[in-house]
Amino acid sequence: MELENNNWTVIPRIGDMAPDFEAVTTTGKLKFSEYNKDKWVILFSHPADFTPVCTTELSEFAHQQDYFTEQNTKLIGLSIDSIHSHIAWVHNVKEKLGVLMEFPIIADIDMHVAKLYGMLQPGESQTAAVRAVFFIDPKGKIRLIMYYPLNVGRNMDEIKRALLALQTSDANKCAMPLNWNLGDSVIVPPPTTVDAMLEREKSNYDMVDFYLAKKQL
Ligand code: BEZ
Repeated sequence: MELENNNWTVIPRIGDMAPDFEAVTTTGKLKFSEYNKDKWVILFSHPADFTPVCTTELSEFAHQQDYFTEQNTKLIGLSIDSIHSHIAWVHNVKEKLGVLMEFPIIADIDMHVAKLYGMLQPGESQTAAVRAVFFIDPKGKIRLIMYYPLNVGRNMDEIKRALLALQTSDANKCAMPLNWNLGDSVIVPPPTTVDAMLEREKSNYDMVDFYLAKKQL
């Protein structure tokens, strides 16, 4: 059957609540809404265990585990592989690369979660998940989505930057300009009334014009 004919080709969008699910993972069975409670979660899929690009990506997530924990963020991986394959791969990566993938990896053998999250993109592969990254906030809302094809690995610096940008934006009610990184100025929300615009003109923000004003946090 062609995947396009199924309604599970619907892809969750930014601003949607993250679909809940139960899954078998390398750390045991879990319910996603409980895993997500009061924490940011990065849910990411990879096409297959024991493949080279995926190994570079997931071993780097493992290297960055402490960073994500400090950012109040839990990691969870997924592929359409069995739990036995996942465990053998975790063991192999520990042996060969000296890093333990401690975060749960979902064994999505029936593709249930991959379908819920639009990770199966049939033009790319009918059987393997694409490289998706979902940033989900502590209220369970999807805040940022990345999709990469099978043949291009993701960028860990950008994943870390995007998470920090979301968290900093939430905490300071500001927006992040092009290439924003920690320590850079942030964008102050534009005025929404004429009075606020006139006030803005008198402010000491770093301003191109009243609608493009930056400040240091
Ligand atoms: C890889 O991770 O190297 C890979 C996985 C599936 C298809 C192509 C590459």
